[in-house]
Amino acid sequence: MTQPSIDRSAIRPIQLRELRLENNLVLAPLAGVSNFPFRLISREAGAALSFTETVSAKGLVMGGAKTRRLLETSPREAPVAFQLFGSEPEILGEACRMLDADGAVWVDLNVGCPVKKFIKNRAGSSLLRDLPHAGRIVRAMRKNFSGTLSVKMRTGWDSESIVAPEFARIAADEGAELISVHGRTRAQQYTGRADRSIIRRVVEAVPEVPVLANGDIVTPTDVFEMLAETGAAGVMIGRGAMGNPWIFEQALSLARGAPARRPTRAERLATIEKHIAWIQRAFTDSRALSANLKKYVSAYSRGLSGSVKFRQRVLESHDVDEILELTRSYFAVVKRTPALRDEERAA
Ligand SMILES: Cc1cc2nc3c(=O)[nH]c(=O)nc-3n(C[C@H](O)[C@H](O)[C@H](O)COP(=O)(O)O)c2cc1C
Repeated sequence: MTQPSIDRSAIRPIQLRELRLENNLVLAPLAGVSNFPFRLISREAGAALSFTETVSAKGLVMGGAKTRRLLETSPREAPVAFQLFGSEPEILGEACRMLDADGAVWVDLNVGCPVKKFIKNRAGSSLLRDLPHAGRIVRAMRKNFSGTLSVKMRTGWDSESIVAPEFARIAADEGAELISVHGRTRAQQYTGRADRSIIRRVVEAVPEVPVLANGDIVTPTDVFEMLAETGAAGVMIGRGAMGNPWIFEQALSLARGAPARRPTRAERLATIEKHIAWIQRAFTDSRALSANLKKYVSAYSRGLSGSVKFRQRVLESHDVDEILELTRSYFAVVKRTPALRDEERAA
């Protein structure tokens, strides 16, 4: 099999004032997924930074216990980027002030979420329809936060209004120090492909600010292709890391000139056991615990032999001990399916 060309120097640190990211591979904010246990797993697998699930600025300011839970972290995962959503500059400013007082080092603004509830509240990708207002939000956040401030956006509202390069410029002028771009419009939701040419235009619009390119990175070679095609400072990986946190170490491995080795069965099982233990510690409520176990063990089984049946049994179970038993017996003996998994293209 011919090797795609790999520019090994594409993996490099990112320096942001006094904060240095050891490499340019980052875990994306994923609501319901990038919680504390999964962020730790991703960091251990080599991601230099992870983003929290999106957190309501209003919820934070109002002192909501549920919101606070989403912000749980530990020095072990420092630095972590807290992603906020909202629509009012004063509220986002106040949320930043509170996080600053709590010692947070990184806050990110959600300008991408396409979900109706967000749009109705003029948050998420809705902000792409009113750039001066979105700019005022960034300004209010900057005024109230001394750490790293970043913005994550989609390319535009729809294909007729590609505003990411323009908004990146506005955000940078208002003090954003890093920009992440998911190469899809709000109208696309998750259909089609992430448009790398628009990400490149964002990179060119803010030459002094590092840009993280995001969308559809599912293999370690995708990392290098994305960086080569966009000129971005780094990549942000979301769905491609779910069930496959090894994508981070595989990309780092390629950058060292080594093969992108798949985890052995024992290594896979060890990671899953660790993840389970952290989930058990993080979620004491039995429904949340069971839902989280199901979500992640199912993701880890993707592409493995007999995984459809395994997932079916796990999803049907209402008993945590049974889920654990099913998981341990499945992953202790499982083989990969004969069809090559994606990451093997790079191995
Ligand atoms: C389940 C799920 C939850 C997400 N939650 C968030 C979120 O909270 N904040 C955000 O900015 N983007 C969110 N996204 C978008 C991702 O961060 C990312 O931009 C998108 O999935 C494209 O990257 P990928 O192809 O690597 O997954 C979410 C995506 C998914 C699939």
